[in-house]
Amino acid sequence: MFWQLASAANRALPAETAHRLAVSAMKFGFVPAAMQADTQMQIGCAGLDFANPLGLAAGFDKNAEAVKGALKLGFGHIEVGTITPLPQPGNPRPRVFRLTSDNAVINRYGFNSQGMEAAARRLERLRGSAQAGIVGVNIGANKASTDKFDDYYKTARRLAPVADYLTINISSPNTEGLRDLQHDDSLRRTIAAATQGMQDTGVTVPVFVKLAPDLSESQLAGSLEIALSAGISGFILTNTTIDRPDGLVSVHKGQSGGLSGAPLHDKSLFMLAQAASHLAHIGATDIPLIGVGGIGSAEQAYARMLAGASLVQIYTALALQGPQLVPRILSGLRQMAASEGASFAELTGQIRQGQRAYHHALHVARKLADSS
Ligand SMILES: Cc1cc2nc3c(=O)[nH]c(=O)nc-3n(C[C@H](O)[C@H](O)[C@H](O)COP(=O)(O)O)c2cc1C
Repeated sequence: MFWQLASAANRALPAETAHRLAVSAMKFGFVPAAMQADTQMQIGCAGLDFANPLGLAAGFDKNAEAVKGALKLGFGHIEVGTITPLPQPGNPRPRVFRLTSDNAVINRYGFNSQGMEAAARRLERLRGSAQAGIVGVNIGANKASTDKFDDYYKTARRLAPVADYLTINISSPNTEGLRDLQHDDSLRRTIAAATQGMQDTGVTVPVFVKLAPDLSESQLAGSLEIALSAGISGFILTNTTIDRPDGLVSVHKGQSGGLSGAPLHDKSLFMLAQAASHLAHIGATDIPLIGVGGIGSAEQAYARMLAGASLVQIYTALALQGPQLVPRILSGLRQMAASEGASFAELTGQIRQGQRAYHHALHVARKLADSS
């Protein structure tokens, strides 16, 4: 009930205020009950056991305040952050815009963060209490940093002991120079710094790299290979795009920042499929992929898994559609997999071609609808 009232009221509020309200609601446990946990939904990824393949993407809970509430919604994992070493305010407001008619959002938050100490203390308390899901920690660099590699070292060292996995975020478009770290020697040095930070704590957790959807096919292949040789555990594809596809109609379409939601769907799906194909080509099929970008339905989540994702994440569709989207996607995924008589692990990467994966998912969903 609270969420229904909040959703209606939320739409009338500026986007950032609505976001803060939603984080507070989750922080204080005002969330609708999740569907019952189902052992059929479990999936392993990077050596971790996930209750289900659906996660909350980074950027919603930037300071690790709402982890328990988000898990209560039914997510199998939540990725907190991006967390920077030092607290910083981010860009001036307004910096988040709803593109309602496009089912999209543009944000240029610029890593507003309470810093790693505040987040680490919250995560330490959380680990002391019973926990019902995987918590990933997404790390980044301060805007004013003169040594971005050292920022990844520091955040990994402080946060690895309180994380189930770490994500190196080098793909947000709102911190100048950050996305340059996706290439060549900068990528090698960033991964080496984060890995060293983690190793210096004596803790080992999987380390993922999150990439931008705006890489060319050859840049993607290069980044995958460099990251693999640097020992990375998996990839999260994708972050928001700086592209503005034709067809956007909302008044805010000209705002600068990263675009997320429906207009990002095809780009993220195709990039994931490209990554899965390339990894298969170089014999690295055991490297997990996490698909994110424009997912707003069970069919879209299913397609992402067929194309190569072990796990999927959502953000914008949750913000626009509300928390009932979580059980909707989960029950849809369960029914679709059951109708094909396959486990999620068996489905992953079966169709490493974006359009074909999506058509197949739509076909399975239609057959299910016709038979019900
Ligand atoms: C308001 C907003 C803030 C975000 N902040 C972060 C962030 O701090 N770190 C990060 O890695 N991704 C961040 N993202 C990107 C999301 O995690 C996700 O990769 C992207 O939005 C695509 O998924 P979606 O279309 O389901 O939203 C943010 C997205 C939005 C909409």
